Amino acid sequence: MRGFKTAALSFLLSTSLAQLVPRTYDTHDFFAIHLDDSIPPEYIASLLGAHHEGQIGNLEGHHKFSIDREQGPAVETLLEALRVQRKLRRRGGDDDNLLQKRDDGLDDGVLWSQKLALKQRLHKRGPVDFPEKHVRQEAASPEGEAVSRQKRIASDLAIKDPLFGSQWHLFNSIQVGNDLNVTGVWLEGITGKGVVTAIVDDGLDLNSEDLKDNYFPEGSWDFNDNLPDPIPRLSDDQHGTRCAGEIAAVRNDVCGVGMAYDSKVAGIRILSKPIDDADEATAINYGFQQNHIYSCSWGPRDDGQTMDAPNALVKRAMMNGIQNGRDGRGSIYVFAAGNGGARDDNCNFDGYTNSIYSVTVGAIDRLGNHPPYSEACSAQLVVTYSSGGNDAIYTTDIGQKCTERHGGTSAAGPLAAGAIALVLSIRPDLTWRDVQYLLLETAVPVHADGDEVQMTPIGKEFSHQFGYGVVDTYSLVQKAKTWELVKPQAWYTSPWLRVQKEIPEGDQGLASYFDITSDMLKQANFESLEHITVTMNVNHTRRGDLSVELRGPQGIVSHLSIPRESDEADSGYEDWTFMSVAHWGESGEGVWSVVVKDTKVNERVGVFADWRLTLWGSSIDAESQLPHPLADEHEDDHNIEDAQYATVSIKPHTKTTPPASATDHADRPVNEKPSEAPAKPTTPAVPPTPVEEELTPTGSVVPTAVASDGFLPSFLPTFGTKPHTQIWIYASVSLILIFCIGLGIYFQVQRRKRLRNNPHDDYEFEIIDEDDDDAEAPLAGRTGRKRRGGELYNAFAEESEEELLSEDEEDMYRDQPSAFNEKMQHKNEAES
Ligand SMILES: *[C@@H]1O[C@H](CO)[C@@H](O)[C@H](O)[C@H]1NC(C)=O
Ligand SMILES: *[C@@H]1O[C@H](CO)[C@@H](O)[C@H](O)[C@H]1NC(C)=O
Repeated sequence: MRGFKTAALSFLLSTSLAQLVPRTYDTHDFFAIHLDDSIPPEYIASLLGAHHEGQIGNLEGHHKFSIDREQGPAVETLLEALRVQRKLRRRGGDDDNLLQKRDDGLDDGVLWSQKLALKQRLHKRGPVDFPEKHVRQEAASPEGEAVSRQKRIASDLAIKDPLFGSQWHLFNSIQVGNDLNVTGVWLEGITGKGVVTAIVDDGLDLNSEDLKDNYFPEGSWDFNDNLPDPIPRLSDDQHGTRCAGEIAAVRNDVCGVGMAYDSKVAGIRILSKPIDDADEATAINYGFQQNHIYSCSWGPRDDGQTMDAPNALVKRAMMNGIQNGRDGRGSIYVFAAGNGGARDDNCNFDGYTNSIYSVTVGAIDRLGNHPPYSEACSAQLVVTYSSGGNDAIYTTDIGQKCTERHGGTSAAGPLAAGAIALVLSIRPDLTWRDVQYLLLETAVPVHADGDEVQMTPIGKEFSHQFGYGVVDTYSLVQKAKTWELVKPQAWYTSPWLRVQKEIPEGDQGLASYFDITSDMLKQANFESLEHITVTMNVNHTRRGDLSVELRGPQGIVSHLSIPRESDEADSGYEDWTFMSVAHWGESGEGVWSVVVKDTKVNERVGVFADWRLTLWGSSIDAESQLPHPLADEHEDDHNIEDAQYATVSIKPHTKTTPPASATDHADRPVNEKPSEAPAKPTTPAVPPTPVEEELTPTGSVVPTAVASDGFLPSFLPTFGTKPHTQIWIYASVSLILIFCIGLGIYFQVQRRKRLRNNPHDDYEFEIIDEDDDDAEAPLAGRTGRKRRGGELYNAFAEESEEELLSEDEEDMYRDQPSAFNEKMQHKNEAES
């Protein structure tokens, strides 16, 4: 009896403790580590004294580890030292002797690592500037013929949904033609059967009468509350349900219908609480063989001053989805362009929407106008209908209700996802790139007042405001029926191009050129261009003053970046990657130029440091084309000294902001070979910058500035190496020092903890039992037994033995990372 009481008490205690510390982040630090295949995660866990939490979602080789808070900093220091060592080793050469090989295998085993943290950096892109009392458009004289056609369609398809008549985005009986032109597809019997769209959002009301028949539980998970069902739990968790309704609201007598009303929707809940990058990475690959499309109506803040991208782990997950999702055809990521249009925000400042792997969808209103909130950018592929023009989107809501107030680009993205669901239901074999081709091939160009349209060499009209135009579901599906699959993706990446010059203020710009020859492309197995990305470094004391144009060899101008009134950041662009779809279909060959402008004449100035561009497109020879390696953490890891000198010139004074039309070549040297002098500046507004031009064929290296010989105070040895090598030597020496100190502290803490727990056993570090090596068997050859460090590590291996033994028990939780986390939390609490 007494025993029972104690047990009950401790159970109560532990549950109340669990309530006090609901997040393991309160007591633990978490790390994501990419391990070499040859290293078992349990071995790493034992070396670090950490706990292996499991693989990160569907990302092979990537694991999550947790460790007591107090030991976190030492692990962090160790991982940082390993990172520096990897970097040094990659740079190789004369620095080799500096790198003493570790004997525990860590330096070969750890390929990449990152400390994780809980963050709430992703925000919904719901309705903005939506009038409180909107005018129902039905009041304005409805067109008789269209209304009766709408009724006939509803009756032919047995649609009895009471809201269908109001769902103007599906059939617009007032502004005839301003809709997604989907009903003809339904009449052909194409309604989305067999396709699943995952709504990555704030939940999905799976009990909704309008959704439950199309709900797909196997593809769903709640990452905010660690539960299988993504139930909207917060009072404002309606966003995901509304988006789901737009795609797959059931054809019944509740609310309206979805674009693909016989398709399924899963809910992946991530927006209702802070999450870490491992959760995010897991979420966007969740169930990626069954979930075909991921509809994402969120992103970094749309405040006109944020510039934020998914970090390496999430980028890899996205690439993993592209390469391995949907049986290797690629998960389809659909992203809302963003609602910061009225605040000078631009979807190229958002690393999700400007990824080549996402379909970026902006909004157009029912009158065919640009709603001020919808962001423009060169990465935007298409638009669909959404709020604005005194109306919004009618869809399902939480709590058995309907809404007539869904809007923003949040409402636009899911409609594109719905159209794609219809396409995949008849052509499940299409790859992620086929889907993008089909969208741009069949979109209907928009001609709105004041919008700049460029006619591209493949005869498509592109505008930064509307991309290639509005989705026309009927033509999209027709084209898909006979679409021939594109060949695998190829890419050509230029070297880093060093500019390192002050940017003149005013409408001048600093232009840098790179000539891509047909040989370069042939060597890269590159046939024709799809996306183009430009990664660049610009130092500037006010980022909002900058703008960047990419001018292609065939006269198309991409506005990669625009000035932003409220962007006060003094960081410039740090390895930021911009993207454009405006050059789609070009050969890629010719002179590309990047023009950086400092649009405001003030005391805030800057330097265009370096850049490089990557052409992405289809391959010449499909057989020999390999997939791109997973997003490399070292992708942008370069020293400016290594960059090739780029040809540069001060841009001649051109007309202000609006881009030149495709035919207006007069004032830019884009079609000139770099060996011919670009036009001289006619009116150099601000004279300070060097106007000298290094006009050499790119490819040959002609230094323009003499790099100083060293940066070190003269009393420090330079080892006779180049300045950057010196930096490396000193940086690594100090890191090794920090590492050793960190390690010292770590062992001290460990030792004290042990002594505290086990006051009589102070030999622990000296006794190494030969038989205890099993856990390290795969690495036995590498485990040094002579060095002190090695012994200490062995001692740690022993410590986590218990965790290693309980491994079987953990296995059943592998595919439920969150339940597993909770269990571990209880276990840890019970132990403490
Ligand atoms: C819409 O679909 C119909 C078939 O239902 C098709 O004839 C028409 O060309 C499409 N486009 C427009 C703008 O109506
Ligand atoms: C740009 O700024 C960074 C950080 O402030 C600095 O390390 C770097 O040297 C600067 N580069 C140039 C080209 O001014």
